[in-house]
Amino acid sequence: MTSLHNRYSAELVGDRHQALWAHRAFTRARRALRETLLEEIKAARRAPSPSSILATLLDGSEGQDLSNEELRMHLMTLLVAGHETTSAALSWALLHATSQPHYVNKIREETWHQPVATYPTTPFLQAYCHEVLRHTSPVPNGHTRRTLRELNIAKYTFPSGTELCPCIHNLHHNHRLHQQPDHFRPERFLNAATNTDTYLPFGIGSRRCLGESLAMQELAIAVAITTHHPDLKIEAPETANPEKVSMGPTIRTPDSMILRT
Ligand code: HEM
Repeated sequence: MTSLHNRYSAELVGDRHQALWAHRAFTRARRALRETLLEEIKAARRAPSPSSILATLLDGSEGQDLSNEELRMHLMTLLVAGHETTSAALSWALLHATSQPHYVNKIREETWHQPVATYPTTPFLQAYCHEVLRHTSPVPNGHTRRTLRELNIAKYTFPSGTELCPCIHNLHHNHRLHQQPDHFRPERFLNAATNTDTYLPFGIGSRRCLGESLAMQELAIAVAITTHHPDLKIEAPETANPEKVSMGPTIRTPDSMILRT
């Protein structure tokens, strides 16, 4: 009994050490990020670089009134909201490419001789990115909304004050709205405008994603440039298949992609 107790205690203490270590590492990293952002803000107030997001924030009359701390929080929101979402989207884009390499060839052919600035508007690549965001939406749910009055949707009545959460993933996999929704088929977006009744990877309305345009450009450019390497091999670990997703605020591939060149 005593030895069992000792073992459990040791494991508990071990866990505590680990938790403490992780907490300290997190606090250190957060402090470093905080200081870096504050330095950037001070530098931008002295001489803003014309095309930066910080310059845009400072440019508007509201920006002038914001304190350094408020600006830092805005930057943190953009970093947090923009980082994991975009990296999840890119992982999915590459994972789909492993199972359907002919799409990689198509993207390569389409973009090879074109300037980078045109990638986001290249038809097949654009359709490929839309299909990644439809089939494996990195953000499966939009923000919740509260009804301001009684609302009737189909046969349901929602009293005023009801919290509703749009499930983007379900919308994108609805058989009545998409043909064979579980199949990854970029062609469905070729020569077809996207429709917010059926496709909402960035949400909708006044709280729609702020980074939509940036995210679409990043995704298209990153996918195209990755495919340009002549000896590119994308390997996915066996567990990294779209059926075995890792769920959090975003839907992520459960394991890392391996890119070999
Ligand atoms: C593929 C990448 C991304 C996806 C799929 C995505 C998706 C979403 C979704 C679904 C929402 C909720 C919208 C709603 O409920 O109507 C959202 C909100 C938001 N996103 Fe993104 N996002 C992405 C990239 C980014 C980037 C790059 C940034 C910033 C640089 C960003 C900043 C934000 C912000 C600030 C909000 C909150 C908007 C508000 O509440 O007013 N996102 N995003």
